[in-house]
Amino acid sequence: MNAIEIFTALVTPEGRADPYPYYARLHELGEAVPLGPNAVAVLGYDAINSVLRDPAFRAGDASDWNFPEWSDHPVFVQGADWILNLSGPRHTRIRSLIAKAFTARRVAGLEPAIAKIVEDLLGAMAARAADGSAVEFMRDFAYLLPVTVICELIGIPEADRESFRPVARDLAEVFEMNDMAKLPAIDAAATELLAYFTGLAAVRRADPRDDLLSDLLAISDADDSRLSDAELLHNMTLLLVAGFETTTNLLGNGLQIILRDPSAGAALRDGSVPPAAFVEEVLRYDSPVQLTSRVGYETKVGGVAVSDGMDVTTMLGAGNRDPRRFAAPDTFDPLRSDGGPLSFGGGAHFCIGAALARLEGAVAFPRLLGRFTRIEPAGDPVRRETFLLRGYDELPITVSQD
Ligand code: HEM
Repeated sequence: MNAIEIFTALVTPEGRADPYPYYARLHELGEAVPLGPNAVAVLGYDAINSVLRDPAFRAGDASDWNFPEWSDHPVFVQGADWILNLSGPRHTRIRSLIAKAFTARRVAGLEPAIAKIVEDLLGAMAARAADGSAVEFMRDFAYLLPVTVICELIGIPEADRESFRPVARDLAEVFEMNDMAKLPAIDAAATELLAYFTGLAAVRRADPRDDLLSDLLAISDADDSRLSDAELLHNMTLLLVAGFETTTNLLGNGLQIILRDPSAGAALRDGSVPPAAFVEEVLRYDSPVQLTSRVGYETKVGGVAVSDGMDVTTMLGAGNRDPRRFAAPDTFDPLRSDGGPLSFGGGAHFCIGAALARLEGAVAFPRLLGRFTRIEPAGDPVRRETFLLRGYDELPITVSQD
């Protein structure tokens, strides 16, 4: 099989279900492979790292969108301000202001709130399972925890959260929009969320609280030239969609590893594997974000020529299984000494929510396993039909507390 044939196989249902054998074949072809005259896929761990850390590989922005009517669509108007889609000084300016409010201290301070949300969700799950019925982990836990935590972080009042979740989910579809028919629903979600954040910003300006939105408003009001209201509000919607399904998938992918191999759960339960090490290996072994992309310039990557404007896809999920970097890459081993997954990217766009996602996983998994002594599959898992974001739609389980 050549590289194009392997990529064609990767996007079939079988490829999406288990891309790893295909990645292994691609690794045999080299650190990077050309995919036609204007595209290259980067698979090797070191090559991916070098692309992500090289500012000359810029993130694609509105000027690269091959879609002249983008400015008619609220989601793209917002997306044009998302730090994910910016490069150079504008990226640095907006990202550093967001980072000023999204501090390690704020994240660490969320731990008690995360623990309470986890306990409440596990309590509800236990009640539902009390008569022996199956529960659905994705719906009842993995989907609810991250979105509730982001609401807590930003400062969205509890009363508003319920109606908020499905809208956030609709907007998140933009990351994998392979069907233009989805655009009206995504636009409607973008419009609704922006209106919501605009209203909440007015409330927080008048009466600031200890939350991310109040802090960002204070930063932007201190000097109007630093962060415009549109930039601020548009990046609120980014935080929501970037941090939601990704973390949901970290939880689902981790649970599925435990369901397939109960010894992985037993090691976490008896303390022989620290929660943070477990989370790190889940991120490596089954990365919730499988790829990201950059716009190329005249150079070489992994021995392959790149030219100006070329699509450069960095295959994070493949880099995490690179045999040149990881011993026995297909073995789940939370105690491996060669950790360091690429799952949060690298360089200027390194995930701003990495510490929060890691904390959520490290709080959630031990509490889940502590609460239920038995967790077993209660039917076949249903995978999400996505490739960039890797996770499940349904993971039915039975749980009990002997
Ligand atoms: C397991 C969960 C998560 C994974 C796997 C993940 C993955 C990533 C990756 C790979 C990137 C870099 C994209 C690129 O280089 O093009 C990124 C960027 C980003 N992530 Fe995350 N993320 C997660 C959770 C979160 C959370 C919880 C938040 C916020 C609450 C968040 C907010 C962001 C933002 C705002 C960016 C853009 C940063 C920039 O472009 O400068 N992520 N994430």
